[in-house]
Amino acid sequence: MATTATEDAYTAEPFVPSRGGLSALREAAAECRGCPLHREATRTVFGKGRTGARVVLVGEQPGDQEDRQGEPFVGPAGRLLDRALAEAGIDPAQAYVTNAVKHFKFTRSAPGKRRIHKAPSLREMTACGPWLAAELALVEPELIVVLGATAGKALLGSSFRVTQQRGILLEEEIHGRKEQRVVATIHPSAVLRSDDRDAAYRGLVSDLKVAAQALR
Ligand code: URA
Ligand code: SF4
Repeated sequence: MATTATEDAYTAEPFVPSRGGLSALREAAAECRGCPLHREATRTVFGKGRTGARVVLVGEQPGDQEDRQGEPFVGPAGRLLDRALAEAGIDPAQAYVTNAVKHFKFTRSAPGKRRIHKAPSLREMTACGPWLAAELALVEPELIVVLGATAGKALLGSSFRVTQQRGILLEEEIHGRKEQRVVATIHPSAVLRSDDRDAAYRGLVSDLKVAAQALR
């Protein structure tokens, strides 16, 4: 039997253990072959934090540094996020940090050249969804902070628009859990890419303050 899911059946589902805590999930995720992204990436980058964290932050997928180090948000976007969280008054120690997709997807401009981030497809996001669902079911956060469009679509559906839904406290049904509180904002990488970084950064902090307020 093939050990990798076939083209039309990408899913992490068979790899997700039905019992055990976050460490069991993390161990199992290291072996996930639910979609082709595991082939080129170095390792699974699972979420970081503890059950009982009051807030879960959801990004898109690990970047180059995260793929090397095995932890989410440890590269440039992560440093910016940490600074913005501190400014907004959210203690990183209270947060569980994860991504919608757990393997780094990239292209290279030429063989041996720098790895350039490539957005995951809807199919890859859907395939990886069972890991995020399992993390949320264990952590049971009071609030989810959605970082950017990919995380938004993964959790709130394909009609999600970050420009329209950012910076407001939403109550949504997520994975069958009714009235889950959610605040969306732009992705920290979008701040780094912005023509007006200061304005984009202030927008990120202002959205995160809405999240901080919801946690009071
Ligand atoms: N961008 C993300 O979305 N997640 C990370 O972990 C790093 C960069
Ligand atoms: Fe599994 Fe997600 Fe990695 Fe795909 S991206 S192999 S579904 S952990």
